[in-house]
Amino acid sequence: MNGKHADLHLKNMSSSVQAELVCFESSCRERFPITDVLYNCPKCGGLIEAVYSGTRPSAAELRDLFRQRRLSNAPLDTSGVWRYRELFPFLNDDSHVVTLREGNTPLLDAPLAAEYGGLDKITFKHQGFNPTGSFKDNGMTCGASQARRLGMKRVACVSTGNTSASMAAYAAAAGLEALIFLPHGNISFGKLAQALEYGARTLEVDANFDQILALVRTLAERLGIYLLNSMNPFRVEGQKSIVFEMLDQRDWNPPDWIVLPGGNLGNTSAFGKALREARDLGLITKMPKLAVIQAEGAAPFYEMFHLGGELHAVANPETLATAIRIGDPVSWPKALHEVRSSCGTVEKVTEQEIADAKAMIGRAGVGCEPASAATLAGIRKLTAAGMIRKDADVVAALTGNVLKDPDYIYKYHTGKLETPSGAKIRSTFGNHPVVVPNDPDRIAALLQEGSV
Ligand code: F0G
Repeated sequence: MNGKHADLHLKNMSSSVQAELVCFESSCRERFPITDVLYNCPKCGGLIEAVYSGTRPSAAELRDLFRQRRLSNAPLDTSGVWRYRELFPFLNDDSHVVTLREGNTPLLDAPLAAEYGGLDKITFKHQGFNPTGSFKDNGMTCGASQARRLGMKRVACVSTGNTSASMAAYAAAAGLEALIFLPHGNISFGKLAQALEYGARTLEVDANFDQILALVRTLAERLGIYLLNSMNPFRVEGQKSIVFEMLDQRDWNPPDWIVLPGGNLGNTSAFGKALREARDLGLITKMPKLAVIQAEGAAPFYEMFHLGGELHAVANPETLATAIRIGDPVSWPKALHEVRSSCGTVEKVTEQEIADAKAMIGRAGVGCEPASAATLAGIRKLTAAGMIRKDADVVAALTGNVLKDPDYIYKYHTGKLETPSGAKIRSTFGNHPVVVPNDPDRIAALLQEGSV
């Protein structure tokens, strides 16, 4: 079957699919039209998810179609998100789609990092290869497309950096006005620079992520602005594609474990939903376990997972991995469900562990930003504890690009990195630059001595 035929065939089949918004709480499950602007259930306050019903194509038809689309030059097919559009069929019309050809991120082997993590082999799904440098683009293309479909004029988010860069780009591409709220002084310059360059109106607030999220929600409701943080169910739909693309790249052969960093926990929710739906559609027959890794100073999900009960927010979360510096993650009910139903686990890691793991990912020629490196640090702990076997098939999601936080990198390699409380971080794998005279003889001699 060629790609065109597969598409025509599916057009008929997917016309019988209905999309709705549904309350995530099992005791409620209230249903709403897919075009409602909802982030929480008006009845019980629960999180909202997109749910699909009706006739779906078979797993074999879908697999074939996704593969055929790799030969196509059509914008939707060349997006590593929209290529999988039958797996999140919430749009009624493809003309709403705003795409920057997101996704299409590689699976990378990294033997050095595997050894460091106590594994025979590791594969990184590197989301830092996205247009704005993080996995947020996978979700933002869907959120921005839904904003267009709803006729929204303005979109807003609070961000520790990556979401703002992503939203600014997609809003600009979609012709929407972008309003960005950032914790003042706690965001990397690279990310702030992107928001400014993409033309977003950027407001810095003297408060932390959790506090600003509450502020933005109030403003969004008052001013009729569309919210594009990860409790937006369409962001979650788009982020499912990270898992779908990874499975497709592995010929639908799931790994034993998928490891990812946890902040606001939107990505954990998306990964779990993607795996369940892939299983229900017959695309996979085995469920990987999810391992979520948090930074020690911002680990409320870790505490809840191991101690039980409700989530106790961390009032003043602290970590140099600013992307996951979140004390009151909104998506914890979904994330808890997903980690538990995958028989997975949650781990936490120190600033030193993150910094060293990050340097090892760099040494492997891969590189990532600090929150992403929590994955390898967590894997090292989980293999040492016997939770992940040495010969396990492990995919770790590197959520952001190495250039997110160059300041962090420079300080680590020159022995100047300190934890938020001022403790020194050892430069275990340091690689500091050396000043040399403009003299070939001297440089040759220094190189020979091994002193540079
Ligand atoms: N990794 C990176 C690079 C991130 O930017 C984020 C979140 C996470 C991991 C955590 O993902 O929140 O889905 O659990 N960054 C957000 C932001 C909060 O504003 O860019 P999560």
